[in-house]
Amino acid sequence: MSPLPSRTRCIGVLTSGGDCPGLNAAIRGITKAAIQDYGIKVVGILDGFRGLVENRTIPLDFATTSGVLTRGGTILGTSRDRPRKMLIGGALLDMTQAAVANARKQDFDCVVCLGGGGTQKNAYHLHKAGGLNVMTLPKTIDNDVAGTDVTFGFDTAMQICTEAIDRLHTTATSHDRIIVVEVMGHNTGWLALGAGIAGGADVILIPEIPYDIDAVVDYLKERQRRYGKRFSIVCVAEGALAQAEVAAQAAEAASKKEAKKSEADAGGETADAVADQTGFRLVKESLASRLARNLQSLTNTEARITSLGHVQRGGVPSAADRLLTTLLGTSAARFLADGTYNVMVAVRGGLCVPVPLGEVAGQKKQVPLDHHWLRTARALGTCLGVTDRELRRRMDA
Ligand code: F6P
Repeated sequence: MSPLPSRTRCIGVLTSGGDCPGLNAAIRGITKAAIQDYGIKVVGILDGFRGLVENRTIPLDFATTSGVLTRGGTILGTSRDRPRKMLIGGALLDMTQAAVANARKQDFDCVVCLGGGGTQKNAYHLHKAGGLNVMTLPKTIDNDVAGTDVTFGFDTAMQICTEAIDRLHTTATSHDRIIVVEVMGHNTGWLALGAGIAGGADVILIPEIPYDIDAVVDYLKERQRRYGKRFSIVCVAEGALAQAEVAAQAAEAASKKEAKKSEADAGGETADAVADQTGFRLVKESLASRLARNLQSLTNTEARITSLGHVQRGGVPSAADRLLTTLLGTSAARFLADGTYNVMVAVRGGLCVPVPLGEVAGQKKQVPLDHHWLRTARALGTCLGVTDRELRRRMDA
C-alpha cells in the first residue's frame, strides 16, 4: 500500500500527567495510521516532557506497538513535569528552550502530547513560547478537559468505580452500614456523578455543589425513617472532600482567632500553646474518614470508608475507551498529514475534530449545574449534598 500525501514527515509522541487506561491504544492508533497511511516517522518520547528535555526517545513502529491495545498504563512512561518549571538538580528551571532544541534536533514536525488539563497548558506553552508545532489528545479519568465531549480513560474508570459501588452495596446492606466511597476527581465530579448514578449511590457529593453535612444527615435519617433503609452508599469525589476541608479550616481559624482574643482578654494561656506542649502530632485522619465519622455520629449508624485510589487508573481499557482512543489516534494521523497543528483532537457529537489549543489550554470542564446527569440523579431522589429546594434553586439559576 503506497502512502498518501503528507505535509508531516516525522513526529514525536509523549504521554504526560497521571496515566489512564487507553494511552497505549491511542499510541498504537497514531503510530499505525501515521506509518501505514502516510509514511510518517514516529518517535516515542519517554516520561512526558522530561524525556523531551533530556532527549530520551524510543522508536515507535508496528513492532513496538504490537499487542499494546489492551495494556493499561503507558509504554512511554509519564511524569507531571512541566517544561517551564522543571526540577533539575534541586532547582526549578525553565527548560522550554532545551525541549524545543531537542525537538528540532530530532527533526519533529510536530510533538503529539497525550494528556489532561496540565498537558494542554504545557503543549500550548511550547508552541507559544518556543514556536514548536504541537498536537494534543484529551486523556484523563476525571473527564475535565475543556473543548471535548469526553476524555479517554473516563469510561474505564467509571466502570471500575461502578463495579466497586455494586460490591459495596451488598456488604453495606448486610451490615446496615453507611459506606463512604471516595473516587478521584480533584476539581470536578464527573466520575463520582457518573459512577454514582450507574451504581445507584444514595448520596453523591461533587465539588461543583459544596455539600452541607446537615442536609446529608437529614436525607439519611429520612431514608431510614420513611423507607426503613439503614444502609446507604455515599459516593464522594475527592475534590468535594478537599473543598469541605478548606471551608472547615477557614471556620476553625476564625473561631480560634475569636477564642485567642477572649483568652488573651482574660490573661490566660491560648489553646494553641497548650496543644503544642504535648510534643506529638496526630497522624492526619483522611478526609473521607472524617466524613464517615461525622455521618456515623450524626445518624447513629455504623459507617465505613473505601477509597478507590489508583485502582481507578489501572488495568485494561474498556471497549468504549479502546474504540475512542483508536478513533482519536487515527484521526490525529490524518490531521498531521494535512498539516493541522496546534490543535487538540476533540470528540464532538461522536466525531473527532481539531479544536485550536488556545481555546482549550487553561480551561476546566466542570459539571454544569443544569446538566442532565444532575437532573437525572435528582429525579431519582439521590441526595446531591444540599436540600432539594436549594438544589432546584441552583439548577434553575
Ligand atoms: O488522573 C487525574 C487524577 O486522577 C486526579 O483525580 C487525582 O487527584 C490525581 O490524578 C492523582 O494522581 P497522582 O497520585 O498520580 O498524582
